Amino acid sequence: MAKEMRVGVVGLGMGMHHCKALEQAKGAALGAVCDTDPERLENAVNQYGCKGYKSYAAMLKDADIDIISIATESGKHAKMGVQAVEAGKHIVVEKPLDITVENMTMLAKAVRKTGKKCACIFQSRLENSVRMIKEAIDKGKMGRVFGVHAGLPWFRAQSYYEGPHGKWKGTWRMDGGGSLMNQGIHTVDMMCHLAGPVRSVFGYYGIFDHDIQAEDHTVAVLRFENGALGTLYSTTACTPEGAQRVFMFGEKGSFSRHGGRLESYDLDTPAKRKRMLELFGSDATTDEGSRDPMAVSADGHMVIFEDLVKAIADDREPVIPLESAMHSVSVACAIYRSGKTRKEVDLRKMKP
Ligand SMILES: NC(=O)c1ccc[n+]([C@@H]2O[C@H](COP(=O)([O-])OP(=O)(O)OC[C@H]3O[C@@H](n4cnc5c(N)ncnc54)[C@H](O)[C@@H]3O)[C@@H](O)[C@H]2O)c1
Repeated sequence: MAKEMRVGVVGLGMGMHHCKALEQAKGAALGAVCDTDPERLENAVNQYGCKGYKSYAAMLKDADIDIISIATESGKHAKMGVQAVEAGKHIVVEKPLDITVENMTMLAKAVRKTGKKCACIFQSRLENSVRMIKEAIDKGKMGRVFGVHAGLPWFRAQSYYEGPHGKWKGTWRMDGGGSLMNQGIHTVDMMCHLAGPVRSVFGYYGIFDHDIQAEDHTVAVLRFENGALGTLYSTTACTPEGAQRVFMFGEKGSFSRHGGRLESYDLDTPAKRKRMLELFGSDATTDEGSRDPMAVSADGHMVIFEDLVKAIADDREPVIPLESAMHSVSVACAIYRSGKTRKEVDLRKMKP
C-alpha cells in the first residue's frame, strides 16, 4: 500500500476545517500546521498534537511534508502556492484560487513547470445532487442549455470585516472584492461547472450595508460559450439571509435548487425525476455558511484530499483542476472589471 501522505496546513482559520477533514481522509494525514498568529498556532498544535510552524518557509523545508494546504488570505494563495511547488510539494488551494488573473497564471505556470499537483477547493461541485445533475446535463438530458440563473442572498455582520482576521475581508487588495469574490464565488463556480465556460459578462456592484472597501452586493448578466444566457447576484447584506438558488433550463427541461434541496427536477425519464426528488427534495433549505462562515462542512475538503492522493499516484488531474477553478475566478474578475468600466467584458480578453 502507498505511504500515507503528510499534509502541512497554513492559515488556521478555515485551515482548521482542513485539519478536521484530514482526521477522516484516507491516504492523507495532518503532519504540521503553520500560522503567524501564535494563539491560533498553539490552539491547533494542542488540538491535533502535530508539529507547529510560525514560519511558512520553515514548514516548506520539512521533508516529512508532501502536500501543503493553503488557507491564508485569498490574495496570498498564488504566491504561497508557487513557493510550495518550487519547494517540491503538491498543493491544495482554498477558494478562490487567487484574486487576479495575473497571479493565477503565475501559479499555473509554476505548477506546470514543477510537475506538482494542484487541487482546488470548490467543494459545492462534489455534493451528490450536483454530481448527478452535472452527469445528466453532460449526457444531453437538458438538451441545448438556454438559461443559467443563480443568486446568493447571504448576510455578514459588520464584525466579520473587523478584528485581526477580518480587516482583509471586503478589500480589493486581499479579498479581490467582497460578496462576489469571497462568498458568491462558489455560486459562480457552480454555474460554470454545470453550464460550461462563460464568454462575456456585464456587471454592477455597490456597497449597501457595510463599512467596507469593495462591495456587498453585485449583479451580473452572463453569456456562456454554448450560447446560454445567465443572471447572477451575490450579497452579504440580506436580512434575514437565505439559501443559494440555482435555476437552469434548456430545450428538454429544467431544474431548480434552493440551498442543498432540489426544488424541481424536470429532466430525464419520469422514474429518474421521481428518484432525484426522493433523494434530494427534502434537504434543509438553509445554506451552510449563509450567516456563519465557519458553519461549512469539512466533508468536501476530505474528498478533495483523498482525490489528490490518488491523482498523485495515478499522475492525473485532481477532481477540481486548476484551469477550471481559474476560469470561475476569472469570471468574477471580469464582472468587477465590467462594473468599473461600465462595459461588457469578454473573458477571452482577460489576459494578465
Ligand atoms: N471553502 C470554503 O467554503 C471557505 C470558507 C471560508 C473561507 N474560505 C477561504 O479560506 C481562506 C482563509 O479564510 P479565513 O476566513 O480563514 O481567513 P483568516 O484571516 O481567518 O485566516 C487566515 C490565516 O492565515 C494566516 N496567515 C496569513 N499569512 C500567513 C503566512 N505567511 N504564514 C502563516 N500564516 C499566515 C493568518 O495569520 C490567519 O490566521 C480564504 O481564502 C477564504 O476565501 C473558504
